[in-house]
Amino acid sequence: MKLFLDTANVAHVAEIVSWGVLDGVTTNPSLVAKEGKDGSPSSPQAFKETVLKMCALVPCVSAQVTATDAEGMQKQAVEYSKWHKHVVVKVPMTTEGLKALRFCREKGIRTNCTLVFSVPQAILAAKAGASILSPFVGRIDDAGGDGMELIAKILQAWEHYQFPTEVLVASVRHPEHVERAALLGAHIATIPYEVFKKLPLHPLTDAGIKKFMDDWEKVRG
Ligand code: E4P
Repeated sequence: MKLFLDTANVAHVAEIVSWGVLDGVTTNPSLVAKEGKDGSPSSPQAFKETVLKMCALVPCVSAQVTATDAEGMQKQAVEYSKWHKHVVVKVPMTTEGLKALRFCREKGIRTNCTLVFSVPQAILAAKAGASILSPFVGRIDDAGGDGMELIAKILQAWEHYQFPTEVLVASVRHPEHVERAALLGAHIATIPYEVFKKLPLHPLTDAGIKKFMDDWEKVRG
């Protein structure tokens, strides 16, 4: 299972890379807008620089197009793909997006189809040639549904047809989403920094370390 960080903050990427567990990064316009000047994007040019810094740290960095028509998306896809070979172009799940995905497949540009909320959308994204597709589980939960149920259904369909498209669990809200993604066999989970920081923690680990340290103090006298 690959673990990605869902962020536009380079320092956060460097920190999780230092743990030896990070396979990639996903960004989106909202994450970019959230960051300030300190090493993170505050303009389109700064966004490019941020993506390049991330590409030096991990092999897969999703950068989202902002055009809404196929021609505009294709133009941005070509531009982004020239920035660095680690760039994966993120394209929204629309009919214009499907055209752009097809174009990118023909040009050999890796893609991540974002904003997937149904099995039919997932099938269309895969058939159009998306390298990765991103169902947003947290937003489905927020709307009163069960986001992980969608992941289970998509992976069930994948067993029948062996689509090469990787299923990325996006809009992760808590460690339980990561656990369920792994148990279902999702290929990737993209995790916000605050959730990533919770993954190594367990109260019994803390209690165990305290006991070992207390006992070691007795040995030292
Ligand atoms: C995925 O690539 C998206 O950037 C992200 O997971 C969206 O999550 P949100 O619902 O927390 O905005």
